[in-house]
This record gives sequence, structure tokens and C-alpha cells, in this order.
Amino acid sequence: MEPSFWHSKWDAKQIGFHQHEVNPLLLKYWSNLNLSPDSEVFVPLCGKTLDICYLAELGHKVLGCELSQAAVEQFFTENSLAYSMSSVTASAGKLNQFDAEQVVIYQGDIFALTTNELPDVKAFYDRAALIAWPESMRLAYVEKLAKLVPPESLGLLITLDYPQEALKGPPFAVSNDWVVANMNEFFDVELLSCEDVLSDNPRFVNKEVPWLTESVYKLKRKH
Ligand SMILES: C[S@@+](CC[C@H](N)C(=O)[O-])C[C@H]1O[C@@H](n2cnc3c(N)ncnc32)[C@H](O)[C@@H]1O
Repeated sequence: MEPSFWHSKWDAKQIGFHQHEVNPLLLKYWSNLNLSPDSEVFVPLCGKTLDICYLAELGHKVLGCELSQAAVEQFFTENSLAYSMSSVTASAGKLNQFDAEQVVIYQGDIFALTTNELPDVKAFYDRAALIAWPESMRLAYVEKLAKLVPPESLGLLITLDYPQEALKGPPFAVSNDWVVANMNEFFDVELLSCEDVLSDNPRFVNKEVPWLTESVYKLKRKH
């Protein structure tokens, strides 16, 4: 989606994607990556997710990227984290850098971010980031993510799939076939789970979407 879409969602507080608890699939599957606590974790399109706090509590330094300044400010204030802000002129554009003790959030377009801002990242966590892009922009995001994380880095990816014609995204439907066909070039892809989640999602039930699955993948950046 275009940045203006997301800015208007944050301005109107239409943030149904935001969860008030740590994502249960993160709790269940993060240990599959077998990371040491000192591994730095990149969280693309992070919103103000509490998953950042969970990862930081495990000992990871967390580096997020989020378009909306309101989202970033809410993340720090709602979690009572003192922060400082500075601006970064990355080669591909301007970002604001919000720094707290174990969390850094680059506020701006992920396409402005470079590996200079993420020099020590060893892992990544994508929940509601890949599925936030319409299909026409999805591959560009995958290519950007692949550029930002180093070879051998490990990631957890959480996707949704449903018949796209039944509902207008976001979230957009991302099938297992799409993941395998388009992400295999950059990542070893392992499906860890795929569950029927229709009854947990009233928006989909109300729109009479016939089925909805949520999948969790372990990814490893190829050389
Ligand atoms: C569906 S939300 C998911 C947020 C978060 N991952 C979560 O689980 O709550 C997608 C987020 O991506 C942000 N976003 C959209 N386009 C972006 C871009 N080009 N660069 C950085 N962030 C972006 C939006 O502002 C929004 O907060």
C-alpha cells in the first residue's frame, strides 16, 4: 500500500492489526530459530507491536522499521520507555532514528533503510509485514528484506491465506505456493505450522470468507 494509506489508518486509529498481547505464534515458535540472546533482530513494518518487548526481554537488541511517527511514539510512551530521536540520512532517503536501551526504531520507508543501519542483525521477525503488501508490491518487499539481512540470518514469518476475492486487503492473502515460488531464491523456507484460524477472526467471519489459514515459516537467508 502507499504510505498515505497507512498514515491515514494511524491518524484514524484504525489499527485492527495491533494485538494487545504478544503474538502466541511468536511465543510458540521463536525458540525454533535457536538464537543466542545477543543476536540482533530486525522487525520490518513493526507498528507498535508488543512483540518487540518480548524479543527484547529475551535479551535481543531489536531494530524495527515503521513508517508512522505516531506509531513509533506510541510504542515508546505506552511501554514507558525513555527514548531519544535523531535523523539519519541513509543513502536511499531520510529516516528518523528512535533509540531506547535495547530497541531502535527507524521511522520512515523501509525502502530508505540500508544495511548501514542494521550492521549486526542476525535474525528477523515478520508478522503482518509481508501480508501488508498487495501482490504488485510484495516481491519488491521480499527483495528489500533479503538485501537488509545477511546470509545465514534466521527469521520467523507469519502469513495469512484466504480466497482473496472474498475480502479486500490488507491483510492480503499469501499462499504457501507464493512463498515457495518467490522466496526460495533468497531464503531456505521451512513451513512450521498451518492452522485454520477462521473462527478467531470475526472480520473474516462477518464477510463470509469461507476459509482462513495462518502459517508460520522458518526462513534462512541463502548465500
Ligand atoms: C499491518 S501493520 C503490522 C504492524 C506490526 N507488524 C504488527 O504486527 O502489529 C503494517 C505496518 O507497516 C507500516 N508500513 C507500511 N508501509 C511501510 C513502509 N513502506 N515502510 C515502513 N513501514 C511501513 C504501517 O504503518 C503499519 O504500521
